[in-house]
Amino acid sequence: FFIHRFKGLRDVEEEVAKKLKIKKVIVVPGMIQDEEIALKEVGKTAANYLKNMIQGKMIIGITGGGTMAALAEEMTKEQGKSYDVVVVPARGGLGKDVDKQSNTIAAKIANKLGGTYKLFYMPDNIDKNLLPTLSGDPMIKEVVEYIEKIQMLIFGIGRADKMAMRRGLNPMEVQGLIENGAVSEAFGYYFNKNGETVREVSTIGMSLDKFKKLEHIIGVAVGADKAEALVSISNLNPSLVMVVDENLANQILK
Ligand code: BG6
Repeated sequence: FFIHRFKGLRDVEEEVAKKLKIKKVIVVPGMIQDEEIALKEVGKTAANYLKNMIQGKMIIGITGGGTMAALAEEMTKEQGKSYDVVVVPARGGLGKDVDKQSNTIAAKIANKLGGTYKLFYMPDNIDKNLLPTLSGDPMIKEVVEYIEKIQMLIFGIGRADKMAMRRGLNPMEVQGLIENGAVSEAFGYYFNKNGETVREVSTIGMSLDKFKKLEHIIGVAVGADKAEALVSISNLNPSLVMVVDENLANQILK
C-alpha cells in the first residue's frame, strides 16, 4: 500500500510541475483540513528543502506572511552545524502582526541556520516622492545592496483579494484590483492569471526583474484556495520550485 501511495504522490508532483511549467513541485501528503497543521507540515518540508539547497556562502532572501512564519518556526537548529548565510527580507512591508513580519522571520531563520541576518525597516505604501530620499539612507542602502545580491529566495504566495485587504487597501481599491484581473500577490506585486503585473506596492526592495533572473527560488503555499494564485505566479520564472499541501496540488490538477 505504501509503495503504491508513494508512487501516486510522485506522479501528482510531476503532473503539477508539468501543468505549471516549473522546475519542481514537492507535495506534502495528507489531505489535511486543519490549516495550522497543514502550515506546520508544509513549513517543515520547505525548511528542510531550503537547507539542502544551500551551497557554501549564500545570501538568502525571504518574505513575510503566515506560511513563511510557519517555516521559520518549524525549521530545526542542527547541533554543531552552521550555514554560511546572510538572510535578508526581499522587500519592504511591515504588517501589524510581528510574527509574520519578514524581519522577524529573517532573524529566526538565520538563527536556526547559524547564519546572520539584515533587518529592513521599510513600510509599504510609501509616498512615491519619498522613495528616492529613503533609498539614499546609508542603512537602507546597505540592505538594498544585499537584496540585489540575493542568490536564493524563499517566499509566500497570497491571493490578491486577501492580501489587498490585509494591506489595508480601501474597498474601492480592492474592487479595482480585482476588476483589473489581479489574482495573486507575491513580494509586493499583484499579478493577473498570466503573471502580468497589475499593481506594485510602493516600497523598496527586490525588483520583479531580479526575481525573473533568479535560479534558486522556492515558493511555499498552503490551501486549495491559493490554486489560481499559484498558477499566476508560476508564469514568472520556470526555475521555480513549489512546496505545497496535497489539497492545493489536487486543486491545481482539477
Ligand atoms: C506576505 C508576503 O507577507 O505573505 C506576500 O510578502 C505573500 O508576498 C503573503 O503573498 C502570503 O501570506 P500567507 O499568510 O498566506 O502566507
